[in-house]
Amino acid sequence: MASMTTTSAGRIPLIAGNWKLNLDHLQAIAFVQKLAWSLKDARLDFNEVEVAVFPPFTDLRSVQTLISADKLPLKFGAQDVSAHASGAYTGEIAAGFLKALDCDFVIIGHSERRTLHDETDAVVNAKTIAAVQSSLVPIICVGETAADLEEHGPSAVPVAQLTAALAGIASGSNVVVAYEPVWAIGSGQAATPEQAEQVAAALRAVVATALGDDAAAATRILYGGSVKSANIAGFMRQPNVDGALVGGASLDIEEFSSIVRFQKHVGV
Ligand code: 13P
Repeated sequence: MASMTTTSAGRIPLIAGNWKLNLDHLQAIAFVQKLAWSLKDARLDFNEVEVAVFPPFTDLRSVQTLISADKLPLKFGAQDVSAHASGAYTGEIAAGFLKALDCDFVIIGHSERRTLHDETDAVVNAKTIAAVQSSLVPIICVGETAADLEEHGPSAVPVAQLTAALAGIASGSNVVVAYEPVWAIGSGQAATPEQAEQVAAALRAVVATALGDDAAAATRILYGGSVKSANIAGFMRQPNVDGALVGGASLDIEEFSSIVRFQKHVGV
């Protein structure tokens, strides 16, 4: 049943905090505890919005233990995953290991991985396949640089990246897509809600072609890039935007909690 908080298509919004390289496991425990209190104090209905945190790998076991022991209504996942299941891959973490830690999601193909770690579309595709095989929901990140935007317009690069990421993924698979224009990440200059909607609609069409119409209707498409409590409402009003992937603002409990409670600002 669509409720006030689900999107018009009945998808449950997802607000995801990508901590990047911040907070060690002790800091993570304190942070997650405080975040849960803050959301509980605000009487957030966790059935109407999914809240997920993405700590560094070394925090995951602590976060899992806390969430499980205190029965916190929060989800969590990793920021990256290996394309390999096991073997001589020093430093890598397998999707199966993340699943064993109760991770729900894994971020794949973040622009910082693509740029700083040379992740190609082929690598992103292999990691997506590995995640789906281990029943993790991949959050597939796509987005154009400022130069791409000038040369190709807003949709062409994200569409090509998502098409490549979904190659060989079974029809009906559960994925999340994050549209994160590279020029908007950490810049303080978010895309406009209309820009985000235009690309999100194009990305939903890619999911329909790759995974089928039902999967496309069910897939959450997030916007990421300088999301704040002051601009979240504009994104959430768009029919094809189903949540946000938040970087810097996810490290501030008050601010992240306010983004999660976007409904207050959307004013529906
Ligand atoms: P900012 O919210 O800091 O712009 O980062 C966005 C991001 O990269 C989330 O994955």
